[in-house]
Amino acid sequence: MDRIIVRGNGPLSGQIPIAGAKNACLALMPATLLSEEPLTLTNAPRLSDIATMTELLASLGAEVSQLNEGQVLASACHGEVNPVAEYEIVRKMRASNLVLGPLLARLGHAVVSLPGGCAIGARPMDLHIDALTALGAEIELKEGYLHARTRGGLKGAVHQLRFASVGATENFLMAASLAKGTSVLKNAAREPEIVDLADCLRKMGAQISGDGTSTIEIQGVDRLHGATHPVVADRIELGTYMLAPVIAGGEVECLGGKVSLLESFCEKLDQAGVSVEQTDKGVRVSRRGDRVKAVDVVTEPYPGFPTDLQAQMMALMCTAEGTSVLEERIFENRFMHAPELVRMGASIDVHGGHATVHGVERLKGAPVMATDLRASVSLILAGLAAEGETVVSRVYHLDRGYERLVRKLEAVGADIERVSGE
Ligand code: UD1
Repeated sequence: MDRIIVRGNGPLSGQIPIAGAKNACLALMPATLLSEEPLTLTNAPRLSDIATMTELLASLGAEVSQLNEGQVLASACHGEVNPVAEYEIVRKMRASNLVLGPLLARLGHAVVSLPGGCAIGARPMDLHIDALTALGAEIELKEGYLHARTRGGLKGAVHQLRFASVGATENFLMAASLAKGTSVLKNAAREPEIVDLADCLRKMGAQISGDGTSTIEIQGVDRLHGATHPVVADRIELGTYMLAPVIAGGEVECLGGKVSLLESFCEKLDQAGVSVEQTDKGVRVSRRGDRVKAVDVVTEPYPGFPTDLQAQMMALMCTAEGTSVLEERIFENRFMHAPELVRMGASIDVHGGHATVHGVERLKGAPVMATDLRASVSLILAGLAAEGETVVSRVYHLDRGYERLVRKLEAVGADIERVSGE
């Protein structure tokens, strides 16, 4: 298994290009099931999760080709569609559940395995099931698979989510786009990736309004057509690389980044003593003093502080001046990076959904293990400023969400390499 070796070596400087958003792309790709005409996504990130979604869509009967070194995904689904999303593929990634709504809309029935994904809590499917049931689906769980069907197709309805789930909002949007009549989703998720999906669906002919707010209205149409759509910038990759010069020192410009995608995160950085500037090419970041100040963080649905940046923020807080409390409100069990950071000399107490971090002056390199996607990148960030060598194993987690990570960090002066082998 590959490992990544990072040696803390001082300030970074230069530019890091930000890829298209993994989470947007994973929701956009299944939209190909909604139409017989081609869907082309540009600015796609080159990640193993995208390969998994490609494999899943191919197993359902779609053709997906990667062009321009993987940055363009050209797909079409004009033949027979297989309604069964098998466990063997779905277990690799929770976002596989995003084929449920489109399959139901296209075929009126679907059999989708319960998903796997990062081990960060229970991650049930009840909100998806309730949302699709509101549109007239009947869904049963049998032997690990959700068996869903409709009597005479999906019908528009008003539904209120108990929690603003990103995935449930996306499944509802795609299903309601082809349902008969008008649908309204209340307490909808407001993430930029939802807006990106709605933008793409509109290009395909869907009638959607209110995305980006907590009430989305969808007027169902009979059919959707083909479209070409650029995937929005990855705000989580952006936030991650913004932290690199804050932890290691120096100044980095994240190309293609927008502060408007990460306002609550940028506010916290400002309070911690970080200078963040929107340029015409992206976002320029540097630390104002020698050490950042401790700040408290609570993760919340968008526009709150993103749970997907909590681990990286914890890596920053490890060497902040003072004590910070990070509260995780989206996922239970999402502090698996804490014991690994402690191996590097951090002082962290985890109690339930809270982690208290007492800033130390410097971390020390150590062998550490990646446990999930965002946890693993927090260890890389911590290693950028640690004394000595940090060896991160199980880096396949990183390949799910960070394209060319070693190359991007090397280009701004980090001492980082990937070694293959066990
Ligand atoms: C998406 C993102 C993920 C991010 C998360 C929260 C993708 C591909 N992934 O995941 O990176 O961390 O949003 O911002 O976009 N829940 C239920 N029942 C459900 C669905 C969810 O209880 O039916 C719970 C989950 O267990 C979790 C919370 O709701 O505690 C948030 O989940 P959700 O917003 O659905 O996240 P995902 O769409 O899975």
